[in-house]
Amino acid sequence: MVPLEPNTVLKYPPLVREMHDALRAWLFPQLPERAGRPELLARLLGTGISEATYVLAELNAAMSDPGDVCEFGVAQGATSALLANEIRDTTKQLWLYDSFTGLPKPSPKDHLKDDIFNLGSMEKYEGEMRCDSAEVETRLAQINRALGESESISPRVSTVATKAAPRLQNALSLKAAVQKVTSAKPLSKPEILAAIKKIGYRFSAKDPMNSLNVVLYTKGQFKNDGGKFSPAK
Ligand SMILES: C[S@@+](CC[C@H](N)C(=O)[O-])C[C@H]1O[C@@H](n2cnc3c(N)ncnc32)[C@H](O)[C@@H]1O
Repeated sequence: MVPLEPNTVLKYPPLVREMHDALRAWLFPQLPERAGRPELLARLLGTGISEATYVLAELNAAMSDPGDVCEFGVAQGATSALLANEIRDTTKQLWLYDSFTGLPKPSPKDHLKDDIFNLGSMEKYEGEMRCDSAEVETRLAQINRALGESESISPRVSTVATKAAPRLQNALSLKAAVQKVTSAKPLSKPEILAAIKKIGYRFSAKDPMNSLNVVLYTKGQFKNDGGKFSPAK
C-alpha cells in the first residue's frame, strides 16, 4: 500500500475550493460568491460538497423572499454554519430544529441505504449523530471566530429542541390504503380520505390532503377520471 503523503490533509481545503468554483461555473452560475463558504464546505461532515452547493444555490435563489431559514435535523451543525454564513448580511434568522438525541429507533419501514458509519445494520444507527444544542452553539461560535469576522453568526441562530414524536405505525402504506379503498369503485379525494380513515389509516402529517395528493399524483399509480381516482392497474 502506498502511504498517503503527510500533507494530503492540507490539500483538502484547496480541493474543495476548486470543486466549489467548478460547480459554480458549470452548474450554479446564479450562486453569488460568498466569503468563508469554501472553508465551511471543507468542514462538512456528512453532507457532500455538491449537495451542499445545490442547497446554497436554492437558498440564495429564495433570499429575497420574506421569512427566516430553518434546518430540520442539524447533527453537529456543520451545514448550519454554512447556512448562517449565507444570511449574514440579511435580517433573516436561522432556526435549528433537532431532538438533539440523534437518530430515532428505526421502524420496519426504515432500510439501510447508505451505511455511512459502517455499522452494518439500521438498528445500530439509533442515537447516532447525537449532538446537544450547546455543542452546536459552541461549534457555530468557534467557526465564527475561525472565520475572523467581526459580525457574529451566533446571536441570530436559535436552536430549538423538538421532542422526537413516536411514529404512528399503519398496517398499510398510504398508497396501499388508497388502492384498497378505490379498487371497488373510483372515489373523489374527500371520499378517499374518509374511506381510508374508516379502515384505520392514521395520518401523522398535519395536512392529510397534501400526503394524499402526493400519492394520487405520483405518475403511474392512480387514474384520474373527472376527479374520481382508481388504481392505475
Ligand atoms: C442526518 S442528521 C442531520 C444532518 C445535517 N442536516 C447536516 O447537513 O449535517 C439527522 C439529525 O436529525 C435529528 N432527528 C432525527 N429524527 C428526529 C426527530 N424525529 N425529531 C427531531 N430531530 C430528529 C437527529 O438528532 C440528527 O441530529
